[in-house]
Amino acid sequence: MKLSLYTNKLLAAPVDLLAVGVFSDEPDRGIAFSQLNRALSGGLDKACRDEKFEGKLGQTVIYNVQEELSAKRICVFGYGSRADYGLQRARRFAATVAGVARKTGADSCGLTLTITEVPADPERVYSAMQGLAEGVIHGSYQFTKYKSTKESSPRLKEAKIAFSADDVRGMNGAMLRDALAKGRIIAESANTTRDLVNEPANYLFPAKLGEFAKSLAKKFDLEIKQLNPRDLEKQGMNLLLGVGGGSSKEPKLIHLVYKPEKKLSKSAPVIALVGKGLTYDSGGLSLKPTDSMVNMKNDMGGAAVVLGAMQAIAGLQPECVVHGIIPAAENMPDGNSIRPGDVIRSKAGLTVEVMNTDAEGRLVLADAIAYALEQKPTDIIDFATLTGACLVALGPSTAGAYASSESMANDIQSAWKKTGEKFWPMPLDADLKEQLKSEIADIKNLGERWGGSITAALFLQAFVGESFPRWAHFDIAGPVMHATEQLFQAKGATGFGVATCVEYILQRVRANS
Ligand code: BES
Ligand code: MN
Ligand code: ZN
Repeated sequence: MKLSLYTNKLLAAPVDLLAVGVFSDEPDRGIAFSQLNRALSGGLDKACRDEKFEGKLGQTVIYNVQEELSAKRICVFGYGSRADYGLQRARRFAATVAGVARKTGADSCGLTLTITEVPADPERVYSAMQGLAEGVIHGSYQFTKYKSTKESSPRLKEAKIAFSADDVRGMNGAMLRDALAKGRIIAESANTTRDLVNEPANYLFPAKLGEFAKSLAKKFDLEIKQLNPRDLEKQGMNLLLGVGGGSSKEPKLIHLVYKPEKKLSKSAPVIALVGKGLTYDSGGLSLKPTDSMVNMKNDMGGAAVVLGAMQAIAGLQPECVVHGIIPAAENMPDGNSIRPGDVIRSKAGLTVEVMNTDAEGRLVLADAIAYALEQKPTDIIDFATLTGACLVALGPSTAGAYASSESMANDIQSAWKKTGEKFWPMPLDADLKEQLKSEIADIKNLGERWGGSITAALFLQAFVGESFPRWAHFDIAGPVMHATEQLFQAKGATGFGVATCVEYILQRVRANS
């Protein structure tokens, strides 16, 4: 996607679709709107009145232009109240416009950003620019790889961010371009995550995930190590081997490392990202019913977030070290599968009684966390489509967020407040640990029915260690995908989590310097 700043005459903008945002609480609809309205002899105003457009958040009016402008259509978008304008509103505006472009077959769009829309505060202008870039790239995403006939229109090729020339004079062009670049990096990385999650399990199995990681490492100059079954045996990663044992596709551990070009200070954070990489989860011998299985290609959503985040981090070059660690396996029923009732010795040394082979995510994560701890991280963050119980608790679009300390809880919250991704704090309630006591082993992989998301998190905590200060666990079983189209976002994989993960790392580095 070509993204550029446009400061020539708005009316002459050489784009198919021209978009203008309007606030609900301002009588005057802004300079861009008035200019267009005048050129259309009041037509835009009339169209808005006809459709009872009030500028409420998300309201849109599409106007078909005859000959008056070079654009074929105009999209008027409601921002809601001006006080709430920022990254998230700008992103929603741009994503909506990209969606309209997708539906109307527009190749190029112009997004107006006038100084009357943003307060003259450089940080907010920066955020708005970043949001426009994120939104337009995120909103034009499509997954058409397996369609023989591409019935949907080709992807939007170009977006121009239109300023009035006066506005741009007061601003720093390099800063604006930097904001666009940042937004682009984040959205393209989230789209990488979406591509991986959308890929069916017969095409994407652990070895393919490894190949993808290798190509990412090459492209973005990351270190990579991959542990195959023989290495996993040497490492004592019997939980990962066990979960992958029932599949004809071998399990593996993928380990990417980001280090900046610059030499780091001794106090620089070392962040380990761990992502559940079940390329398919049939449940194993505790087989799922068909209806629960259909979406289980998404069970590597955590791994996909880690890969997307590594891509973004490589692009943004923060001053820290980031490890991306992915236990990848396919959970299948077979003569070599683990059985309910088996006891397995984990890498960490704890023995685990397997009560249900469908509670496999926590098993592979336990070994991956033990491996992560060997990298001497200051922070551990894991992403996992871990429990259906989390979906029951929070619904399909909110992730459960667990943190090992107050300060970690505050820091992850400050990251998601900025990105607007929907997370909700969940408790590591120590009273529920009782449920994980095993008769014959150190711990079992299943609690009782109630509190299933919490007991899964408590299982992970047993491997992180209770004194580890900066651990966060995100259960993304819900938001990893949408079942329906939302806010002009195509249905399917969402890329949820990448933006917040990256924002956390950037804020962490900033606080440390
Ligand atoms: N991958 C699933 C969790 C899941 C469920 C993700 C629905 C997305 C949508 C996980 O491995 C699983 O099967 N969890 C079981 C745990 C149970 C056996 C304790 C579940 O949630 O039912
Ligand atoms: Mn499962
Ligand atoms: Zn699973």
